[in-house]
Amino acid sequence: MTQQVHRGSILHFPKTTSDPAANYQYFNDGVLVTENGRIRHLGEASEFFKLPANQQRLNYGGVEMHKGLIIPGMIDSHVHFPQIEMIASYGKQLLDWLNEYTFPTEQQFANQAYADAQAEFFLNQLLSHGTTTASVFATVHPQSVNAFFCAAESLQARMICGKVMMDRFCPETLQDTPESAYRDSKALIERWHNQGRAMYAITPRFAPTSTPEQLAKAGQLANEHPDTFIQTHLSENLGEVAWIKELYPEHSDYLGVYEAYDLVRERALFGHAIHLEDREYRSLAQSGATISFCPSSNLFLGSGLFNFDRAKAEGIHVSIASDVGAGTDLSLFANQADAYKICQLQNSSLDPFESLYLSTQGAAAGMGIDHLVGNLNPGSEADFVELDFMASPILQQRLLRCKTLREQLFAIITLSDDRVIERTYLCGNLVYKKGSKVCGHNSTSGLRYLSNGSM
Ligand code: GUN
Ligand code: ZN
Repeated sequence: MTQQVHRGSILHFPKTTSDPAANYQYFNDGVLVTENGRIRHLGEASEFFKLPANQQRLNYGGVEMHKGLIIPGMIDSHVHFPQIEMIASYGKQLLDWLNEYTFPTEQQFANQAYADAQAEFFLNQLLSHGTTTASVFATVHPQSVNAFFCAAESLQARMICGKVMMDRFCPETLQDTPESAYRDSKALIERWHNQGRAMYAITPRFAPTSTPEQLAKAGQLANEHPDTFIQTHLSENLGEVAWIKELYPEHSDYLGVYEAYDLVRERALFGHAIHLEDREYRSLAQSGATISFCPSSNLFLGSGLFNFDRAKAEGIHVSIASDVGAGTDLSLFANQADAYKICQLQNSSLDPFESLYLSTQGAAAGMGIDHLVGNLNPGSEADFVELDFMASPILQQRLLRCKTLREQLFAIITLSDDRVIERTYLCGNLVYKKGSKVCGHNSTSGLRYLSNGSM
C-alpha cells in the first residue's frame, strides 16, 4: 500500500506571501494523503469521506488519526552539525568562541568513524525537533560531508550540506588551500548534488578565514555549478566587521567582499546579517539571496539584534535558523520565540503566523525549493510533523484558554521545545515518534526509518 491517509488538524502556507497571517490554510478536521513519498491530496475530511471510495480514486489502507496539529516539516537554513556536542559553551563572543571551542571540536571530524557517529546523532536530533530540511555546515574535512549525506540518504532526508573552506586564521590542521578546497568541493558536488534528496552548498566559512585566492575559487565553483547553494556568515559581530575592513580594505563593506567573488546570488544563504550598511540591504534584496536570522545564537554570543522589519521592508528573503552550536536550541520554535523577543527589543511584535512561515514556506521560497518542501501542497514531498498540544501541563492549560488560532500558535511557539514534536515523517515515512527509539541503526543498511503504522 503506497498511499496513506492522515486525518487531523492541518496548518500550512500554500504560497509565497508578504502577509502570512492572511494567507495560511487551516483545516480543523483535515485529510492529508501521501503517495510514493509525495502529497497526493489535502482537504477537508468531510469532503474527502463523503465521496464513495471508488470516486476518491485512491487506494489506501487505514486512516491514521492525529490528535495534534500537522504542519510541514520545518527548515533550518543555517546550522553546524559538528557543533552539536559543544552547544552551551560558556562566556565568549564570536571570535574567541571560535578559537576556544569551535576549532578544537571540529578537528575531531578528520576521523571518519567519529564524523559518522555525530552525523547520525545530529540528524536524529533534527528530526526529533521537527526539522526535516537544513542547510548544514560540515567541517573542512570532506569525510564529514560524506558522513552527513550518507546518514541523510538512509533516511531519505532532503538536506543541504557543504565542506567548510578555510585556509587561514585557524589551526593548521583545519586549513585547506584554495586548490584543495576547490578540488574537494567539486568532487563532493559531483558525488552528492541532486543525488536523491541531497543538495550541495559551497561553504566558505566566512571572509576572514579565506584568502582572496580561496574566495575566488569558491566563486569559480559557484559559476561552474549555478544551481548549488552557497552558505557563509555575514556581519554577525562588530569585531568581525572591523576585522573585515582591515583584511579587505579595498571593498566598500562586508557584503562587497562576497560580491567581488561572485558569491551573492539566488540560493546564497548568509547567516546573521546584523550589522549591515544601507547598501548591503539593497544589494541583498536585488540579488535574491537569503538571510538566515539566527536568534538564539545572536543572543547567546551577544552578537546584536537582527533588524527583521528592515530586512522585510527591503524585500530580502529571510528565514529563521538555529545556528547550533552558537544557537542554544535545535528547535525552530525555540528560535522563533527568541526571534519574537529580539523584535520586541526593537519595538516590533513578530506575528506567530509570520514566524512559522519563516521556518516553512518562506524559507523554502527564498531558497528556491518550495516546489519540493515547506508546504503541504499536492505534489510536494511528504515531509511533515505532528505537534502534541498536551506536551506540557503549562502549554496544555494555556492552549485551553486561547480563543483564536493565532493565540494558540503563539503559545505553542513561545512555550515549545522538542516535547511538542509528536511524530516526524519524511517522504510519507514515519521517522520519529516521541518516546520511541529514534531511527534505529542497522549495520548493513545504515539508518532505517520506522515503518508506517507500527506505533
Ligand atoms: N562565523 C564563522 N564561523 C562561525 C561559526 O561556526 N558559528 C557562528 N555563529 N559564526 C561563525
Ligand atoms: Zn554559523
